[in-house]
Amino acid sequence: MPLRFPKDFLWGVATSAYQIEGALHEHGRGPSIWDNFCRQGGRIARGDTAETACDHYHRYREDVALIAGLGVGAYRFSIGWSRIQPDGTGVPNRQGLAFYSRLVDELLARGITPMLTLYHWDLPQALQDAGGWLNRDTAERFAEFAQLMARLLGDRVPHWITHNETFEHTVLGHALGTHAPGLTLGLDCFAVVHHLLLSHGQAVQALRANLPAQAQVGIAQSMAPARPATDSAEDRSAAALLHLLHERQHNEPLLLGRYPDELAALGLDLSAIRPGDLATIAQPLDFFGINYYNPNHVQATPPGSPVPLREAEAPAHYERTEMGWPIIPQGLTELLLDLRQRYGEKLPPLVITENGTAVPDALDAGGCVDDPRRIDYLDQHLLALRTAMDGGVDVRGYFVWSLLDNFEWAEGYRPRFGLVHVDYATQRRTPKRSYHWYRDLIAAQG
Ligand code: FCB
Repeated sequence: MPLRFPKDFLWGVATSAYQIEGALHEHGRGPSIWDNFCRQGGRIARGDTAETACDHYHRYREDVALIAGLGVGAYRFSIGWSRIQPDGTGVPNRQGLAFYSRLVDELLARGITPMLTLYHWDLPQALQDAGGWLNRDTAERFAEFAQLMARLLGDRVPHWITHNETFEHTVLGHALGTHAPGLTLGLDCFAVVHHLLLSHGQAVQALRANLPAQAQVGIAQSMAPARPATDSAEDRSAAALLHLLHERQHNEPLLLGRYPDELAALGLDLSAIRPGDLATIAQPLDFFGINYYNPNHVQATPPGSPVPLREAEAPAHYERTEMGWPIIPQGLTELLLDLRQRYGEKLPPLVITENGTAVPDALDAGGCVDDPRRIDYLDQHLLALRTAMDGGVDVRGYFVWSLLDNFEWAEGYRPRFGLVHVDYATQRRTPKRSYHWYRDLIAAQG
């Protein structure tokens, strides 16, 4: 028996601009922080770059046909900000706008609802040169960009997401430096957190002012239970600290209009907060997007270390993905039930905006890609989701990451997350067995 979900449940697939589009120098696009980051030696595995990626900029029609073939109701994609505003501000670039306009029309023509993410980590380089997310002015620029997009596509796009994963963008890009822009601020990156959240609030205001009343506006946040590596008191407090820095720091301002008191007790420099900011950040949302892959395991560092926690290996008995991530579907049930319990009425309806896995897929002699591990992963996570919904959590949709194999940031092209295999040398697309499995699961919902 296939799993059953509510009749109006929104099934989808997700991508992001930088990971699939390529065409980085076309039609007036300006450079983004990822263009620069990829050019710095040693940043990306094997020196991969996103110059061509999946060439989606030119092949979007073929890709929309693949989405349509799945029978999904919706497609989540992001806008490359520097295609629209090459310097991150001012008059929009018509050719950049035209691309997304064509994409949206193509989706609508095939009956697919567009879900648009404004920012999936690719800041225009010119804004980085002015301080990036450390600079409060970037929030203003983002709201201006949101307004532009709402005016262009508001009549055709019903679902809007401001940011993708403010925590990952802060930590990987600004604390650890493994993602663009490559800053290594450690615990000193609260201003980045705050300006990202502030820009979300300002963008929501700009969207509301320019979109039709029925438009749905939300955000997509990464979520992961924080698990201590051992049962020691030190590791347990490291897990509580990660929970504070990840989930509570990034989501309490959005949902409750305040930062946790514990942040000040940690000695973080909170001086970026100005009067009125928290009210701006805590805009009412129509949905809350959750990206889930796996719980995070964490351990304490020795006393006196600059940062009191570090990532730990998950227990060896868990199966791992090609990213090395442990496969723990119950983590999804656990986190959804926990969110409902902690935020109660303040929690908007949820949408799983990303979930999926990297598998070392290859074409077999017959030209097929058999990926039972991905099917298993998706099946188990949908069951975990169904369990949380049966437990009373209001979830309205589920998006597989990703439609296509794509440029997986610092890992380059090796990890393959797609339901569709991409041969990067020829750009040939081959739907994997999981593509057909997902299509059948959706069809079976009636
Ligand atoms: C998420 C990102 C997405 C992709 C997946 C694997 O954190 O939002 O772009 O890289 O991980």
